[in-house]
Amino acid sequence: MTWFDDFADEMYGGSRPGVARTLAPVLINRLGLTANSIVLDLCCGRGHFSMAASDLVGRVVAVDSALTMIDFLRAQGQPSITAILGDAATEDLRGLNADACVILWNSLGYAGRESDVGLLKNARSALAPDARLVVELRLLEDIDDLSPRATAERRESGSFVRGRSVSKQWMHTVWSVTDPSGKILKRAEFDQYLYTADEFREVLHDAGFVPDAVERLSIGDLGQAQSTFFFARPKPLD
Ligand SMILES: C[S@@+](CC[C@H](N)C(=O)[O-])C[C@H]1O[C@@H](n2cnc3c(N)ncnc32)[C@H](O)[C@@H]1O
Repeated sequence: MTWFDDFADEMYGGSRPGVARTLAPVLINRLGLTANSIVLDLCCGRGHFSMAASDLVGRVVAVDSALTMIDFLRAQGQPSITAILGDAATEDLRGLNADACVILWNSLGYAGRESDVGLLKNARSALAPDARLVVELRLLEDIDDLSPRATAERRESGSFVRGRSVSKQWMHTVWSVTDPSGKILKRAEFDQYLYTADEFREVLHDAGFVPDAVERLSIGDLGQAQSTFFFARPKPLD
């Protein structure tokens, strides 16, 4: 079990499921996908985007390494979604010939740059030559205060607390849930590297993609933070 499993309810307790459903038709339209298209949703989480996309395209293949996320998606029983429990960096996806790959909501940066390049290379191996990649990231530029700092946020009953600090482009997050007496019921601590837009273009390049647009899409409230969308195409093979 990863912390993603432990904190799935807290992660998806906000506006994100609705945002994913609003985002799906916008991205699908933007990518020119049709009812015959195949979409690969890497690091799919609970698959809210996959579910919304599956009504609009032919097939969705969704991959996540957290068991409870994949179980949640499988329980939706959507026959045009193949939900795979696996590591997006190593799952063999060759031959899928997908028309698009999406990696949404800050799913990169946890294991460092080289690991992200590897994951994106694996994504590339699953794509048709004229496919598109979309990565949604919170960038260093999206954090207004770059000095080391801590913020804490309490939810409803006061039982879910989030603390965050940013130092040297690594965002350190501490999440905990306590009972009314203050006893800690669960706790997670993790780091995520915040790319600059220029750095992430380099990452895409190193993974065999040609970046073709970097945009902020205006989709209502995008959730806890601003997001930037990178669109890219696979570089033709030599
Ligand atoms: C912030 S959530 C985003 C989920 C989803 N993309 C969405 O928009 O709802 C990040 C997800 O990435 C998954 N993840 C992180 N690293 C992964 C990897 N190497 N392979 C597969 N899944 C991964 C986590 O399990 C988690 O569900």
